[in-house]
Amino acid sequence: MKSIDELTGVEGKRVLIRCDFNVPLKGETITDDGRIRAALPTLNQLRAKGAKIVVMAHLGRPAGAPDPKYSLAPVAKRLGELLGATVTLAGDVVGPSAAKTVAALKDGDVALLENVRFEPGESSKVDAEREALAQKYAQFGDVFVSDGFGVVHRKQASVYDVARLLPSYAGYLVEKEVKVLRKLTVEPERPYVVVLGGAKVADKLAVIDNLLKVADELIIGGGMAYTFLKAKGYEVGQSLLDESKIEACAGYLKQAEAQGKTILLPIDVCTIDPSTLDFANRTLGSDVVVVDVDEIPADREGADIGPKTAELFAAAIKKAKTMFWNGPMGISEIPVLADGTKAVAKALADSDGFSVVGGGDSAAAVRAFGYKDDDFGHISTGGGASLEYLEGKTLPGLAILEEA
Ligand code: 3PG
Repeated sequence: MKSIDELTGVEGKRVLIRCDFNVPLKGETITDDGRIRAALPTLNQLRAKGAKIVVMAHLGRPAGAPDPKYSLAPVAKRLGELLGATVTLAGDVVGPSAAKTVAALKDGDVALLENVRFEPGESSKVDAEREALAQKYAQFGDVFVSDGFGVVHRKQASVYDVARLLPSYAGYLVEKEVKVLRKLTVEPERPYVVVLGGAKVADKLAVIDNLLKVADELIIGGGMAYTFLKAKGYEVGQSLLDESKIEACAGYLKQAEAQGKTILLPIDVCTIDPSTLDFANRTLGSDVVVVDVDEIPADREGADIGPKTAELFAAAIKKAKTMFWNGPMGISEIPVLADGTKAVAKALADSDGFSVVGGGDSAAAVRAFGYKDDDFGHISTGGGASLEYLEGKTLPGLAILEEA
């Protein structure tokens, strides 16, 4: 990959850059700006070189059409504060407002296009649709810089296709992430323990097969654990469950056993009455009741690992020399449901081994608990991207930079 350090003569040139600003929001307030901060070294360097900067980014998963709920307005504001400069947010992605905004840029200025996922071509599976959109993006830049590590596993127009049209470079964040994650793929010190949690169940289940080949032990908590518990014959009440993956989970459990590897699952969970959960306002209107996994009532939802599980997981982490963690153990945004995630964060932070925390939710959680980035070996901005990297998959957004 060509580094932006090789990018000379950009004064007065338009640099189109892809960042991952998919940050957690409570209303219009950004609850963790880690992904925005992570982009600053590249943006500051390009500004210092006198480039006109056009940033592309996404927020959430809007359905390929403008949706005010997913506007990048809060991101533009926060980015401006962090840069100490005005960041102009275009009113569209590639329409007249974007064209006008880009045309008005002066050297060192920064503009942000609206959420690229407002355009149906951005995430299209049809190559020609993505390519047509990428052509429009390319008109806004003389060169392309890829710095949204969290999204390099997506074959999307602003990540992949545009890099085929312009001279393309890796930003400092992408370089740093790849350097750290490589350490985990090239002879990691053993035992190597991977902790998985979070709610993107279907995404995560797909990675287990490959992670079982590289890690010695998998620890599974969070929303995805309930599909495994169901596969083991437990009733999970109202907990998050992916019915279509129960059989696959049963297969992973057998496969792990056959390979002499361990998949550690919760032995107790914190349950809630789901009708009293208001996630948008981060409130819970009922008690939390801890039960063993064979006693989850039909009308309750498992929303965190229980204390016995937290101890079990922490003990496994303590023995590890290399650790990767992706995904909270429960609904950690709600303080009474954060203890399991806190226990995992503490075990990793206390460890003398090399620990990597990956993914927006886990990173947000550890920062909310008061940890600093250097309490861990590395906090990755990539969730799915870092997992896929560790699995040894080819990430389209990196492969295209290597070709360039
Ligand atoms: C993430 O949050 O992991 C990245 O921003 C990618 O988002 P996506 O899973 O919606 O593509």
